[in-house]
Amino acid sequence: MTKKKYESLPFLILVVSTSILIMCLTSLLLLPSELGLTESYPPGPKVVNMPTLNAWVKYRDWGNKYGDLVYLPKWNTLITNDAGVAIDLLEKRARIYSDRAMSPIMKLCGGENLLSVECYSDKWRRDRRVFQQTFRQAAIAQFYPVQYNKVHEFLRKLLLTPEDFMQHINGISQGLIPKALYGLDIGPEDALARKVAEIIDTFGKALLSGSFPAYEWFPFLIYMPSWFPGCGFKQIASECGKVVEEIYTVPFDLAMNHLQKGSRTSPIVELAMQKPQDLKEIKAMGTMSIIGAIDTTMSSICSFILAMCLHPDAQTKGQEEIDRVIGKDRLPTFEDRRHLPYVEAIYREVMRLHPPVPLGFPHISMEDDFYRGYHIPKGCAVVANIWAMNRNPNVYQDPDEFLPERHLKSAAGPFESIDNIYAYGFGRRVCAGRYMADNTIWLTVASVLAAFTMGKAKDGNGNEIDIRGEFTNHFFRYPKPFKSSILPRSRVAGDLVLATVD
Ligand code: HEM
Repeated sequence: MTKKKYESLPFLILVVSTSILIMCLTSLLLLPSELGLTESYPPGPKVVNMPTLNAWVKYRDWGNKYGDLVYLPKWNTLITNDAGVAIDLLEKRARIYSDRAMSPIMKLCGGENLLSVECYSDKWRRDRRVFQQTFRQAAIAQFYPVQYNKVHEFLRKLLLTPEDFMQHINGISQGLIPKALYGLDIGPEDALARKVAEIIDTFGKALLSGSFPAYEWFPFLIYMPSWFPGCGFKQIASECGKVVEEIYTVPFDLAMNHLQKGSRTSPIVELAMQKPQDLKEIKAMGTMSIIGAIDTTMSSICSFILAMCLHPDAQTKGQEEIDRVIGKDRLPTFEDRRHLPYVEAIYREVMRLHPPVPLGFPHISMEDDFYRGYHIPKGCAVVANIWAMNRNPNVYQDPDEFLPERHLKSAAGPFESIDNIYAYGFGRRVCAGRYMADNTIWLTVASVLAAFTMGKAKDGNGNEIDIRGEFTNHFFRYPKPFKSSILPRSRVAGDLVLATVD
């Protein structure tokens, strides 16, 4: 009996170890919930109120305390300050993390027809397909003539009234898409442009948790009239919805009128005539691009000018490169881009330090997921803190310093794909207008560097006026108004700018 037991021992060991192996392998394939293990969410603070000002700084502080994944249970929100996590979740698992939250407020704002905030659905897919047909990399050269036209107009305005440079930045940011898509000249003084500028702030609020505290605490308020105490947000949101409707119809109708009167045609009208079955999506593309371009383009150009005023050495290096590579008798063109690595590095450094949308747009998870041993529940809002990942001290030496050289020294060099510019977001919801935005900002950077010297303005006694370098701190981040001196680099440079008149 004892011998028999002894003889069967190897068999028993084999059975037990095989079972253990099978269990281990199964556990790799099965999700923790299926194995009946306790669910554990990533760590995080038990916050009741979300920070709404400089939220990216607070989010980074939480990351330093809790790690790469910070989960806020009350808000079902996961924050990450790490680019690797953002890529793992939002890109590699894009199948799960590509939804948006269509809150009742966002609906009132007119968000259901805006690609950037639409839920991940067949409608979003149709809208995105039509959008990309016009704004994909291979199609983007169609906008070069308008981009030259608008950037050169910007240079002329800088030459004539440099003190109004912020207004001129608004002008190019608001005017480029209406001109490029609809053939319309719309300036910052235009009524529609002013309304659009106003509603963008409302969208920012609707996207940032904590902006409408009364409604977030008492969601039933959405059913109360807007005069009811605490329901002011409804009024703001419905105004926003009306403006979105106006942007949907007014510029398109104007462009159609121009065609019917025989004065001129435009890309959007031509597209509508070629594909009448896609009319709704085409008009939505126009609406989205007008709204999507304004604050983002304005922020980047303004941050560039601020950086040049504060970092004259980087400015000089960029100008010397332009003089060396293309000379002083013409302005830069897109063909020059590949030959201007330092100018490229200035552009990349502006986008690194000053992403216009520091927290991106939240991506909502469409199913339960498990990552690094944690449960990420369905419906979770994943916030990629782009501002913090771009200042990660483990990736960037002296992360808060403006050092274009870092892009020259990086393994990929300054010309790496713009898909690696985190400012444009991640995965299937990555900015669909990024190729156009990238071209506009690069051309502005190169052209302004070629023609002007930027620095601190002087007061009546000839003393330099300090630039505090402050930024807005809500959803969009851009420099607060500052004074600067913007002078043509030489008489020849001034003449070059004047000669750009069509
Ligand atoms: C400096 C300029 C710009 C920056 C930094 C920027 C940034 C962003 C970011 C962070 C997102 C969200 C990405 C995500 O969810 O991961 C986004 C979405 C989007 N952007 Fe931009 N953007 C810029 C310019 C533009 C322009 C000029 C257009 C239009 C021509 C545009 C159209 C869009 C659209 C359509 C989406 C929504 C994509 C979707 O949800 O499917 N953007 N952008």
